[in-house]
Amino acid sequence: MLTHALIGDEGKTIDLGWKDGTRTRFHAMWLRDNALDDKTRSAGNGQRLITILDIPAQTRIGAAAIKADALEISFVPEQKTVSFPAAWLSANAYDRDAAREPGWTGEATVRWTKASMQNSVPRAGYVAASRDRTVLRQWLSAVKTYGFAVMDDLPAESGALCKVSDLFGYIRETNYGRWFEVRAEVNPTNLAYTNLGLQSHTDNPYRDPVPTLQILSCIENTVEGGESSVVDGFAVAAALQAENPEGFRLLSSYPARFEYAGSSGVRLRAKRPMIELGPDGELIAIRFNNRSLAPTVDVPFADMEAYYAAYRRFAELIEDPSFEVTFKLEAGQAFIVDNTRVMHARKAFSGTGKRWLQGCYADKDGLLSTLLAIEHGFKEAAE
Ligand code: FE2
Repeated sequence: MLTHALIGDEGKTIDLGWKDGTRTRFHAMWLRDNALDDKTRSAGNGQRLITILDIPAQTRIGAAAIKADALEISFVPEQKTVSFPAAWLSANAYDRDAAREPGWTGEATVRWTKASMQNSVPRAGYVAASRDRTVLRQWLSAVKTYGFAVMDDLPAESGALCKVSDLFGYIRETNYGRWFEVRAEVNPTNLAYTNLGLQSHTDNPYRDPVPTLQILSCIENTVEGGESSVVDGFAVAAALQAENPEGFRLLSSYPARFEYAGSSGVRLRAKRPMIELGPDGELIAIRFNNRSLAPTVDVPFADMEAYYAAYRRFAELIEDPSFEVTFKLEAGQAFIVDNTRVMHARKAFSGTGKRWLQGCYADKDGLLSTLLAIEHGFKEAAE
């Protein structure tokens, strides 16, 4: 795969040529820090055994040679020789054109609308997912790719939603408990516990960190109305950016404030943007919840009018039926949303019949970790 290795900048860099004609540069310091030998990284757990301060600041590449499918490098002044597999160098290359538009997402994220998703909602049966790793992998992968999925075949009983989180991780307990009841109550501490319709929203933006997954399961649903819907916040953000780049910039560059103080002993507050970008412009999270938006005080006077116009347009797009995927949750069904991306809503429902749902929070890092571990296990079994 590797055709040549040219040391440059007096040993500070190396220029690698590949069989397909492409070239990839690396820095001596980067390579030394990421050396794969067992003095640098633990052979057992893969964790790094040295710190940056253990590497001489004047580290250079003294010599380099291609040996079979690997690059062998001798670092000076340490006089240390390390081998890097070509496949590893290729997988970890960073020498690419850096210009990425703000709001970009990785290849694993697929945006969707009603047209592309209404008739292909990702779903799996609980019994199948708990017995068959292939089914579980597909379901977890759908959550990663689309930010939501439905699960059928759960027992229609209190606490069944924990079975869903048990498939991949752990419940995040909050002031609402390990899980919470979503049904009409007298004197509700939260508007979710009424029969009112709820605008599309992400949950608990007043927490920092926000719960990254929400599971809602249905024990009983015999009311008129009460359908659930989901909206891909990343698709809506992209639509806003396409028609109003300045509005997108305002919502992503100024923090909003969110708060909840609906029950005694609780005063939750967070200061985060409605559209959150990483330092490299990656779209990281959407926060959108009319019930818990606090006064916005971090937008300068000169930008407030445009900020509010962008907020209004973002809300209009979120309400646009072309983005909305709707389903009625039946007893024994649950759905999971990536709460950093996919908004959920509920239609109003009438007083006849019963609607009893339960909700809980969990975290996406655990879900993604379980997915990667299953995929890794499948790969090893195939080798
Ligand atoms: Fe909610």
